Amino acid sequence: MSSSVSVANENGVAVVTIDNPPVNALSFHVRKPLYDALAALRDDPAARAIVIVCAGRTFVAGADITEFGKPIEQPELRAIVALLETIAKPTVAAIHGTALGGGLELALGCHFRVADAGAKLGLPEVKLGLLPGGGGTVRLPRLVGALKALGMIVSGTPISAGEAIAAGLADAVVDSNLLAEAIRFAREMADRGGPFVPVRDRDDRLAETDLAAFDAQAAGLAKKARGLEAPLACAEAVRNAITLPFDEALAAERLLFQKLVSGDQSRAQRHLFFAEREAAKVPGKDLQKRRIERVGIIGAGTMGGGIAMAFANGSLPVTLLETSEEALRRGLATIEKNYAVSVSRGSLTEEAKQQRLGLFKGSTDYADLAGCDLIVEAVFEDMTVKKEVFGKLDAIAKPGAILATNTSYLDVNEIAASTSRPEDVLGMHFFSPANVMKLLEIVRAERTAPEVLATVADLARRIGKVAVVVGVCHGFVGNRMLAARGSENEFLLLEGATPSQVDKALVDFGWPMGPFQMGDLAGLDIGWRNRKARGQTAVIADTLCEQGHFGQKTGRGWYRYESGSREPVTDSEVEALIRAKAAELGIGQREVGADEIIERTLYPLVNEGAKILEEGIAARASDIDVVWVNGYGFPIGKGGPMFWAALEGGPRIVERLEHWHRQTGRPIFEPAPALRRVAETRAWEGAGAR
Ligand code: 3HC
Ligand code: NAI
Repeated sequence: MSSSVSVANENGVAVVTIDNPPVNALSFHVRKPLYDALAALRDDPAARAIVIVCAGRTFVAGADITEFGKPIEQPELRAIVALLETIAKPTVAAIHGTALGGGLELALGCHFRVADAGAKLGLPEVKLGLLPGGGGTVRLPRLVGALKALGMIVSGTPISAGEAIAAGLADAVVDSNLLAEAIRFAREMADRGGPFVPVRDRDDRLAETDLAAFDAQAAGLAKKARGLEAPLACAEAVRNAITLPFDEALAAERLLFQKLVSGDQSRAQRHLFFAEREAAKVPGKDLQKRRIERVGIIGAGTMGGGIAMAFANGSLPVTLLETSEEALRRGLATIEKNYAVSVSRGSLTEEAKQQRLGLFKGSTDYADLAGCDLIVEAVFEDMTVKKEVFGKLDAIAKPGAILATNTSYLDVNEIAASTSRPEDVLGMHFFSPANVMKLLEIVRAERTAPEVLATVADLARRIGKVAVVVGVCHGFVGNRMLAARGSENEFLLLEGATPSQVDKALVDFGWPMGPFQMGDLAGLDIGWRNRKARGQTAVIADTLCEQGHFGQKTGRGWYRYESGSREPVTDSEVEALIRAKAAELGIGQREVGADEIIERTLYPLVNEGAKILEEGIAARASDIDVVWVNGYGFPIGKGGPMFWAALEGGPRIVERLEHWHRQTGRPIFEPAPALRRVAETRAWEGAGAR
């Protein structure tokens, strides 16, 4: 008996309770007593059946991720599951909360699974760059069929208890009294008598598999993997379950797991798992939070509409304010259209759409915002306009209301100072489309009260956002680093690369899209307008815009687009323009390799990140990784720019930056001192961050 695992006898049914807060992960100090308890119960005549249940908020949510990468202490989960399958009396997993990863694999070692109606069951290992390593790839297909198992394992998305019973994964679903019901179920099974067939020996569902259909589905999934190894390994392991005898497939799963767990991609994805949770730990986390029950949004344009939807999707009522009835109608119509698209795609029911639309109220009168607990401003990016709006808010918002700006670049301290309550003001920088993108930069101004920060961090979680607290500077963390990533783009073209070469190098690195394709998608006119406002120029991009080439929306930009197509086609006129500009500027053209493209775009990005750390704009290097993975599509298999930089090695990056500095003579490459100190991720921690 240990504090993590206890055993009780309920009239002949042994109840094994796992108690390892917060999520009952299968740490060594759980595995050892669990193994011992099951070994003892196997031969204990006083136990006619065994129920495994968990204390606290959830069934086992998986292996203990902190143990990966360290020497494994025996017994492993696999040994526990193997032991379970030697037990002749009925074994029952009583599941509440989330049975995930190793947790579900433990339940698959039981003869039966009884689930609470609210439970979720899944194998999310792929999200950590892994595959289920405790027999999940060979047992799940035996219960739910190979195709269903493939979908669950490659996506990592858990299913509900209702879906689990329909699929054959659960044997009973109960609305309440899970443990009592599971004991009753176990007793009934014991009364009925065996033999009870372990999952490993149930081959009938597998025998039905159409291998050609399986391979076709697996090939489709492989296409989406975009350089990630884990989804492919998952598919291979499930295929082995169909084609190989159980023990051989299990051994193959083991080998695949070991390869993944020791690889850089899984290390990177595990880093991101903890990085996201670390980012949520904001200063003032334990302070009393303010109540947020109604949200006001100012501006129903691209961002205001999306932000309003993000809150409504989190069941919060919103009041949307515009300058005119016409603008308001337009904004609300776009929202309605977006929900209708979700309904037509099947991701939202008509009923849910109506319910969400019922949460919106439109207004053109600031007085209607007086009852709001939080007001988010999303009007034009113009300091005068923003100050005017905050002046009005200051006059009407109730005491204690939080006032937020969605500005992309402007000084939040200056905006806060224009009110009589700067402690209630902060930035909430959403990303477009705001109802979809998970990232939220919470901008802490000089005088923002800690409980305001903590309240907004809590709220972010409530509406499903991944929040990162950042300080005030031009562009905060994300957009400031984005500018550094793009600083060499035009120079690369002038020196001889083509837009498609640059894009390809970055896509091969793992980005969903290269910068020129991205520019065409977003619209080249946006950057052009910004540059003009700031007195800046970009020789090639400005010329394209002067010719009316704004990207996809005009059919031409860095690429050409056939009517109705989003497929970029190389534009020989753009290439000729680049050559002409290079000649005009006296820049000689040459072959530019993919490595040079990566170094000259991503090393400046990392360098800017290091400066951001030195200035305390981000509290941790891992926060920067969370921003870049969730807001800008940095490949998850690389762990974010700072994790990747640590693997590349600080000294190497410094050396290469100095090399390109000498080649180009441009000061953008001045390496940040923090970069010199980085040999490992952990070395970032001391980089002057707050
Ligand atoms: N191992 C170690 N720690 C874990 C953990 C795990 N499997 N799962 C969660 N934690 C920790 C978190 O780091 C966090 O710690 P903190 O409070 O110190 O930051 C704490 O538990 C609470 O986690 P959340 O903040 O995520 O709590 P939520 O209630 O929001 O979510 C959850 C709960 C849905 C269980 C979520 O934590 C989760 O998805 N966990 C990971 C599940 C998973 O990936 N399981 C598979 C693991 S790999 C595996 O099993 C391999 C096997 O096949 C061999
Ligand atoms: P937009 O032009 O689509 O929408 C702005 C809306 O604000 C318009 O509908 C306008 O009528 C309204 N408006 C202007 N002045 C107003 C006032 N005084 N009172 C009420 N409404 C007013 O602009 P967009 O793209 O939505 O940007 C809004 C803010 O969000 C800007 O600060 C921008 O920098 C920021 N942002 C934009 C992102 C993007 O990708 N578009 C991403 C993140 C932030």
